[in-house]
Amino acid sequence: MKSVLDFQKMKFERQRISMVTCYDSTSAKILSASNVDCLLVGDSLTMTMHGQNSTLAATPELMALHVEAVRRGAPSKFIVGDMPFLAHRGSLDRTLEAVRLIMKAGAQAVKIEGIEGSEYVIKHIVDSGVPVMGHLGLTPQSVHQFGGFKVQGTTRDAGEILLAQAKKLQDCGAFALVLEAIPAALAANVTESLKIPTIGIGAGAGCSGQVLVMQDLLGLNTDFQPRFVRKYLEGFQAFKEAFDKFDSEVKSGAFPSEKESY
Ligand code: KIV
Repeated sequence: MKSVLDFQKMKFERQRISMVTCYDSTSAKILSASNVDCLLVGDSLTMTMHGQNSTLAATPELMALHVEAVRRGAPSKFIVGDMPFLAHRGSLDRTLEAVRLIMKAGAQAVKIEGIEGSEYVIKHIVDSGVPVMGHLGLTPQSVHQFGGFKVQGTTRDAGEILLAQAKKLQDCGAFALVLEAIPAALAANVTESLKIPTIGIGAGAGCSGQVLVMQDLLGLNTDFQPRFVRKYLEGFQAFKEAFDKFDSEVKSGAFPSEKESY
């Protein structure tokens, strides 16, 4: 199993890091057999698995349930679990209880969106022995603050603020940083300015690694096709064809055959 030290080494040796979101045991088994470096049980599961239109509905209990399922399917992959909406913005006790649930479910690290006002809490989680992955740029839990899922850091001032936040996260002890939906030049600059690896999504090729949502990567999501997604499979069509073939063979009587019967 990889550790935070491996990700540090990969950054140092300029080896790219691959991360894919994963929410269930069956997919985790497939990813477990792959070379992908890191699995993210993202709070995007509210959208991909539960059909919500944002990530706000995630709770620590829901995250822990999915982390547990992924851990069962991928016993030797490095797993990061998302801290859900507002879970680290209340009392320290509440924050640590959420971290405890996610880590005890089988994660090696938690991911936290944003930094402003969370510096102490992030440092406290790190000092408690829990690796923290930061997340800046288009942080989906702030969708209503941003007025939609919009590219961030597009002005000079916003870029400077984001760079300062990235350095602050590094100083708080974050071991890696997701950069989502920001200009490629800004992401490259942040990456070069930090000792910790950056993992981009819609942030260009200058990051230390890339992450995609599994359903996007597999072409399962036909509603959401932004320019940063590359489909490695026409999954929606492939699944649909399989379902239609099953349907037609049931209806024609071709399934089940004698060999498939007792
Ligand atoms: O929840 C998620 O899937 C994420 C990725 C988009 C980085 O945070």
